[in-house]
Order: sequence, then C-alpha cells, then structure tokens
Amino acid sequence: EKQPILIQGPMPIEAENFAAKLEDVEEETSGNFVFYKGKVDDYPVIVMKTGKGMENTAAATAIAIEKFDPAAIINQGTSGGHDPDLHVFDIVLGERTVNIGSLKTGHREDGEGIAPKEWIPMDLMASEGSAGEDPDAENIRYFEGDKVLLKAAKAVKNTHEEGKVVEGTIGSADVWNNEVDRIQWFHENFGTSVEEMEGAAGAQIAKAYDVPYLGVRILSNNKTNDGEYNPDTAEANQDYVYEVVKKYISKK
Ligand code: 5AD
Repeated sequence: EKQPILIQGPMPIEAENFAAKLEDVEEETSGNFVFYKGKVDDYPVIVMKTGKGMENTAAATAIAIEKFDPAAIINQGTSGGHDPDLHVFDIVLGERTVNIGSLKTGHREDGEGIAPKEWIPMDLMASEGSAGEDPDAENIRYFEGDKVLLKAAKAVKNTHEEGKVVEGTIGSADVWNNEVDRIQWFHENFGTSVEEMEGAAGAQIAKAYDVPYLGVRILSNNKTNDGEYNPDTAEANQDYVYEVVKKYISKK
C-alpha cells in the first residue's frame, strides 16, 4: 500500500472543493475533523477538513499522522497579505512557516503600560527549560517547507492564472491582524509574506513526526494595499494545489 498524501483545509470552502475532485471517496470523522479518503490518478490522497486555528490544526495533524502514516502533508487555504507587493489571488508557497503568536513581552511594572513593538519572539522548541527565562528561547523558530513538495509546486506555477505564485514566509496565530503598523512590524521583524491561523501548527507537528510538509496560501485579503476580502480565492487555491499533487505523485 502506498502512503497517502494529506491535504489540509480549515473551512468548508477551503476543503470541499478539493474533496469533490477525489475519486472513490470514503468519509471518516474523528472529533470535529472530517477526512475524505480517495484517489487522484490512482494514488491515495486524503483531504482533511481541520476547522480553523492552531489547536484544531495541531490535533488534526497528529491524529492523521497516527491514523494514516502519510508520505507528505500540504496545508492550504486563504490568508491575509503582509507584503504590499502581493495581491488578492496571489499564492505564497511556504518556504518557511512561523508562529507569530509565540511572543514574550518586555518587563514593565504596574502602571507602565504595554508596548507590543518591544515584544520579542519566543521559541517553545528551543530547550526543555522555561521559555520565559531561557535566553536560547529568544529566537524565531522557522519551520522549513519540504524541498520536494516545493519543487513540485514551483513546477506548476503557470497553472494558476488568477494571480502570481511566489515563495515566502507564512505567519500563523489565532489572531486576525487589522492594524497595518502591526502587520508591517511582523513583515519587517519576522519576514512574513502572509498571515493565517494554521500553517505553523501543522508544521510543528509534522516536524515532530518527520513528515514532509508544505504550506500553500492564497491571499483572500491584503490590508496593506486595500485588497478586499474575496472568498472565491479558496477554490482557486484548491485548483492549484490539485495540480501540485498531480505533479508530486507523477515523480513518485
Ligand atoms: N488573518 C488571519 N487569518 C486569515 N485567514 C484569511 N485571512 C486571514 C487574515 N488576514 C484564514 C485563517 C483562518 C480563517 C479566519 O481564514 O487561516 O482559517
């Protein structure tokens, strides 16, 4: 039996379009998570509807790895732009993914207020000691996108006609940032191209199990250049990821 490829999508509009492309589909659920187990070109592919956010994604990823022993995982869906050169319908391939909610604040006493621009990154994977005290934890933890998945994704860039496809950094947290200065702060300090709420959670678990992983995120909005929210981007991204999967399995 071949090891399946897992395709993750948080919301119904980010998973069901891909699920509808599968042949011989069987549905399975575990908790809130729905797995559509099917085939693409005779190769086993499982689409997972994970639900939104870091917790759902981490749990769904661990459960799917234990259940299905996947060859690779693609986490895909919509995102908000951090880079003003990117527009709604452009796609970012996650050369790296980073948790932008993992932060440590400065020391301020009663009445000294809050200063988010002084917050520093915190790497929970740096050591087994206290992340609050350990200087090694004062670092940005980037999860690298898998090179083979990236290569397949780059090879089919031209199939995406509604926008461009670029390599970049995907930032994740259970936060929707609408403050442009804060978005710019992440763009400058973490190098983020886009933000969403899942990629880094899946990446952390995939790394724990040593499963190849890639984030693929289309911009559905970009506050830095007045890019208005468009939910149709979710389907366009699945169409592109379908091409990525076909390319990836053709090399296996
Ligand atoms: N900020 C955060 N999450 C976003 N998403 C789309 N755009 C953004 C944004 N600007 C995605 C998240 C989550 C849902 C709210 O949409 O990944 O699943």
